[in-house]
Amino acid sequence: MTETQRAQVRLPRHIGIIMDGNGRWAKQRGLERSEGHRAGANTFRRICDYAAEIGIECLTFYAFSTENWKRPAREVAAIMDLFRDYLKEAQEREAENARKGFRIRYIGTREGLAPDIVAMIELIERQSAAQTATVVNLAVNYGGRDEIVHAVRALAAQVAAGTLQPAEITEQQISDQLYTAGLPDPDLIIRPSGELRLSNFLTWQSAYSELWFSDVLWPDFTPEDLDRAIFDYNERNRRFGGV
Ligand code: IPE
Ligand code: IPE
Ligand code: MG
Repeated sequence: MTETQRAQVRLPRHIGIIMDGNGRWAKQRGLERSEGHRAGANTFRRICDYAAEIGIECLTFYAFSTENWKRPAREVAAIMDLFRDYLKEAQEREAENARKGFRIRYIGTREGLAPDIVAMIELIERQSAAQTATVVNLAVNYGGRDEIVHAVRALAAQVAAGTLQPAEITEQQISDQLYTAGLPDPDLIIRPSGELRLSNFLTWQSAYSELWFSDVLWPDFTPEDLDRAIFDYNERNRRFGGV
């Protein structure tokens, strides 16, 4: 967007993006699905940089769901390798990410992830913890329902220990147990690829999110598409149940 547009637009504080359509993108070109994931990973880098540049405070990228383990082992392995590449690169580019002010966080369950991936995640979260310009949440092995199950277990443990009364449980306490604790709920959720569903993305947090869909397949998604989503968001009248 131009400087003038940037000055006039009301930016969402938190944007969630479901990075979908990699497989179809590859199929259209007669390529392996893994090539689609590779192209999608590059789009992720580009969109992440662009969103930060225009001043989005918080971004959540849905890269792999708790349900995506159902896919052929070869495809899952290819996706995990791309995740490794990104994490390695983020480590190597620590200075660059610090300059950009990226705080990189992982959201999802670590159960089931390879130990080397978990170690890299922990290192990057530590390295970037003090940066404040843009929070980048990587949702890998993430499921909204799975996240709620973990939150319920944590609260139930406090009840069992006698430190919490069931009647004291509030919406805020549930929010505080989620992977996104402390972050604003997503104002805008973007899903490319023509599917009109959330597929277990930010189930609790999306209660009042504005949803934006596009037929573009994720590897073809451009900064101009992000602009379009933000301009459309500006036309929305968010009432939160009020008048
Ligand atoms: C999104 O692209 C990436 C993941 C879910 C891991 P898909 O792989 O779902 O692409 P389509 O939906 O099959 O085109
Ligand atoms: C959602 O896409 C998950 C990610 C993009 C990571 P899917 O391709 O897994 O969703 P469905 O199966 O079409 O609902
Ligand atoms: Mg898909």
